[in-house]
Amino acid sequence: MIWIVLVLVLLCFLLTHRWRFNREPPLDRGIIPWLGHALEFGKDASKFITRMKLKHGNIFTVRAAGRYVTLLLDPHTYDEVINDPESLDFGRYAQLLMERVFNLRLPLHQPEKAKAMMKRHFRGSSLSTLNSTMWRNLETLLKNEMPLNQKNWKEEGLFQLSCGLLFKAGYLTLFGGEQNNNNGTDPSRIYKEYKKFEGLVSSLARGTLGKEEQRAAEGVQRQLWELLAPAGLKQDSSSSPWLHAYRRLLQEDGFDEETQRKAVLMQLWATQSNIGPAAFWLVGYLLTNPEALMAVKREFGQISQMEGSGTPLVDKNMKTPMFDSVLEETLRLTAAPFITREVVRDKTLHMADGRDYLLRKGDRVCLFPFVSPQMDPEIHPEPQKFKFDRFLNKDGSVKKDFYKGGKKLKYYTMPWGAGTNGCVGRQFAISTIRQFVYMLLTNYDLELCEPNAQIPERDTSSCGYGMLQPEGDLLVRYKPREAH
Ligand code: HEM
Repeated sequence: MIWIVLVLVLLCFLLTHRWRFNREPPLDRGIIPWLGHALEFGKDASKFITRMKLKHGNIFTVRAAGRYVTLLLDPHTYDEVINDPESLDFGRYAQLLMERVFNLRLPLHQPEKAKAMMKRHFRGSSLSTLNSTMWRNLETLLKNEMPLNQKNWKEEGLFQLSCGLLFKAGYLTLFGGEQNNNNGTDPSRIYKEYKKFEGLVSSLARGTLGKEEQRAAEGVQRQLWELLAPAGLKQDSSSSPWLHAYRRLLQEDGFDEETQRKAVLMQLWATQSNIGPAAFWLVGYLLTNPEALMAVKREFGQISQMEGSGTPLVDKNMKTPMFDSVLEETLRLTAAPFITREVVRDKTLHMADGRDYLLRKGDRVCLFPFVSPQMDPEIHPEPQKFKFDRFLNKDGSVKKDFYKGGKKLKYYTMPWGAGTNGCVGRQFAISTIRQFVYMLLTNYDLELCEPNAQIPERDTSSCGYGMLQPEGDLLVRYKPREAH
């Protein structure tokens, strides 16, 4: 009997063991068979990857839950991954996540068509229209939260305020139409369900939900599919032209109503999940850094004096270098996406330092710009510190010159990804966050409830999907600013 067990163990070892071939990156399997480093990776990816970087350097392969993932951490070499979609495919891994998180199966070509269409709807004059609608929705929602004749302070967690307001405004702008429009679903109702779903996304993506949680996730998904059923169906003001065109595309491709609703939920998550947290971090850093707050208020003050239209910042030519630097610095500290690609054919990766490595078909390759360039002390001195003017030159112009190893960097931060699969909604997201912060700082008195409060820690277990979540909230109070 013992022999059979030993033979089985040996067989299992031989079948699952992997040897490092000549010219492949250093291989770190971890000590637990199959699982490898999955637990440490999932718990705090940033800490784990930093530890591996110290051990192996800028490129290495780790085993995690049966998969082999090569991490590349030299920003001078990132283009090798970003610019080779033939060997390093974006779609397959995205497809896997789509199935796990949204229970959605779409053929590989469909998301590509949808992306091309999205690009048309989030650029140029379409973007200006979206920005104006977003402005109106933000203004109405803020006034609902806090009528302009209100004299008393209202206390609220800043994370709750930013995420709630921006989700509802984003939902109304893209999915649900004008508020009080009977065609749409009440944004507060959908937000309540969405929050429950969002809390489960990373576990769904990792496939680590228990039975009970899995059932809860399915229940919330069903609720959201129901609530989203009318979104984009009619070509009227009840949702954006983008969503209507997206629905039409799905219909033309022959997808049934159920698949369409799942796809709409995926779009809701893709368009809403990161803006609220980004705005929270930005306003949180401002409130805990008075000098930065003054500088941004000064810049916005000049704009509000110039503008008479009532919808400032909609014009894309409006320059706000101070705000832009604060946003860039905020995202440097808090945006931590994995840029993951599937190796679909063997590839020789040419490192900027001259070394070549072989990437094996079937593995994944992952960039983690949070560790480098974003938190790299050689590129950004005192990387843990919020320095609001880090991205400004002394003369106030935008600073773009950052160096590593004496060589100028193309990627000195990378919150939006890059290349063909970079963020389609980048301009819309920036404009939305800018409008929200402008509106809060210009029309309201906003301050910390506890003057010495610190910004919450970043929850590093939330690495991988865009913005980091905070550990806790920051209590603020606000009321309409009295006319001076
Ligand atoms: C602060 C807000 C946001 C952040 C930090 C962010 C970040 C990112 C990142 C890092 C990627 C690249 C993923 C990769 O290369 O693997 C990405 C892709 C994408 N983003 Fe965003 N995003 C934000 C907001 C938005 C918004 C508002 C929209 C839509 C209106 C959007 C639509 C997309 C789409 C469609 C892709 C996939 C591109 C593709 O298929 O090639 N994002 N985003």
